[in-house]
Amino acid sequence: PRVTIVGAGRVGSTLAQRVAEKNLADVVLLDIIAGMPQGLALDLMEARGIEIHNRQIIGTNNYADTSGSQIVVITAGLPRKPGMSRDDLLKTNAKIVVEAAKNAIAHSPNAIFIVVTNPLDVMTYLAWQATGLPRDRIMGMAGVLDSARFETFIALELGVLPADVKAMVLGSHGDLMVPLSRYATVNGIPITELLDVATIERLVERTRNGGAEIVELMQTGGAFFAPASATSVMVESILLNQSRLLPVAAYLEGEYGLKDVVIGVPCRLGCSGIESVLELNLSDREREGLHISAESVRKSIERSQE
Ligand code: NAI
Repeated sequence: PRVTIVGAGRVGSTLAQRVAEKNLADVVLLDIIAGMPQGLALDLMEARGIEIHNRQIIGTNNYADTSGSQIVVITAGLPRKPGMSRDDLLKTNAKIVVEAAKNAIAHSPNAIFIVVTNPLDVMTYLAWQATGLPRDRIMGMAGVLDSARFETFIALELGVLPADVKAMVLGSHGDLMVPLSRYATVNGIPITELLDVATIERLVERTRNGGAEIVELMQTGGAFFAPASATSVMVESILLNQSRLLPVAAYLEGEYGLKDVVIGVPCRLGCSGIESVLELNLSDREREGLHISAESVRKSIERSQE
């Protein structure tokens, strides 16, 4: 199989490394900067003998080289600077993502699309519109990352192995995300049995602010290692038809009482893309959180089209 990654910046190039070194697929890295994706691809090719895999990595500035991809990941666009919200990127990234989506689908009409560019939920919606794809074949990555951050903070607080912590974050990728604390467990034990309410609330706040915390520390762009890992898990579940249940930004058709909007919900990911959307029985507060989050995505979609 072949995975195209549009945008060979920090998230895109790290994702290329993950996909190739996990031996999931050949990779085409595309960017507008001449020479840059070609250089990265050569660098990754030269690591193959050491990492012991035989995947091809191609760098290009031309969409014709992406043809026949099973998956297209869009990471092209600007990242945040300190003090910026993801919404500040709206108009610039909207143009980039719509153009990328149209070009990519023209060469890979059967591909499944994963959008990573921020503001995530809006960009996924615009890419859905631009490609005309059915909703099972286009989705955004955010929930897997936000959940991994929540899990990390729980693990750090309790001093346990991060892999033993399971949590899910729904909603939009931003301050209005909806971490589902009551479903979070350490190997099946609810964290509500292990931590007091105030501590859980502090970890939830840190999760909401997880992206900005890194932007502030780095001062030059945002996170990319964990975002690339999170995206590679979605790629893997699709390519290997694993049917993992992951929080994914999906176009909703009435689930959770929401329509014609993209928001993070639990989805089963397999070889056809989104195999199903799981409708959880949310508490009133969680459901309200999801609706507030959806409303803000809707407003941003409108603003992006003004
Ligand atoms: P970056 O600046 O390192 O890379 C972006 C790349 O896109 C650059 O190489 C740039 O040349 C390229 N690009 C710009 N316009 C293009 C076009 N028209 N066609 C092809 N390539 C184009 O940024 P980074 O850190 O890799 O982040 C990429 C995006 O992903 C940002 O919008 C960022 O906010 C977002 N992001 C989203 C996350 C999520 O959870 N959904 C997590 C981390 C980042």
